[in-house]
Amino acid sequence: MSLINGCTEVSSEEEFYDKALDYWKSIPSTLNGMLGGYEHISSIDVRGSQSFLKYFVQGKQKMALNRALDCGAGIGRVSKQLLLPMFKTVDLVEVNQAFLDQAKTYLGAEAKRVGKYICCGLQDLKLEEKTYDLIWVQWVTGHLTDEHFVKFLQQCKHGLCNGGIVVIKDNVAVEGVELDSVDSSVTRNIQQLQKIFDASGLRTLRQQKQTHLPKELYRVTMTALGS
Ligand SMILES: C[S@@+](CC[C@H](N)C(=O)[O-])C[C@H]1O[C@@H](n2cnc3c(N)ncnc32)[C@H](O)[C@@H]1O
Repeated sequence: MSLINGCTEVSSEEEFYDKALDYWKSIPSTLNGMLGGYEHISSIDVRGSQSFLKYFVQGKQKMALNRALDCGAGIGRVSKQLLLPMFKTVDLVEVNQAFLDQAKTYLGAEAKRVGKYICCGLQDLKLEEKTYDLIWVQWVTGHLTDEHFVKFLQQCKHGLCNGGIVVIKDNVAVEGVELDSVDSSVTRNIQQLQKIFDASGLRTLRQQKQTHLPKELYRVTMTALGS
């Protein structure tokens, strides 16, 4: 069985993860580093995320705003601009310790409302039961094999409070599954993503495209999953 459905080029799990870690260790702990030179799209991205979350914050079954988890958090861009302004406490999980170290400075005074900085690959993450109202997973799932992606989502399911949601915000390939051999990640098409979501046992609650991104970039979708 292949590690990533539709991508025969990834044959060694160890190499896939080691190469990604080496890549991210070589990237500066800056906003531009997080966004591959597209620092200027951060505000467009965050506005799209805020508008997506409005449905869950203002809807009939309002999501509580106590604790959120930022997955593949980098230096904490999403935590600073999206999650800390909304939630009382935010935890960050990130595989590269240097980014987490920088997050403590980058988040400024609001860093006092960070609960935990967890240095861990999402493939190894274990969450405590019913802890989070929102688990935000942005531009990182391409670093997981299919099996680890499903297991990670099952951990999220376990870690969600009643009424909580997981949001996957990621690049989507028009066709097939594309390997980026530089950062050792894949971009899945929407069918492959949906198969993984379904295999996790989480329900797809809502899906929306991110608008106003530069044309040369991948299409980006936000998918909310819940029990
Ligand atoms: C493109 S950056 C996105 C950072 C952040 N989510 C954002 O949108 O600003 C990808 C991040 O995922 C982290 N990462 C890569 N592989 C990971 C893994 N297996 N587990 C956790 N984090 C990982 C990288 O170190 C990097 O910080």
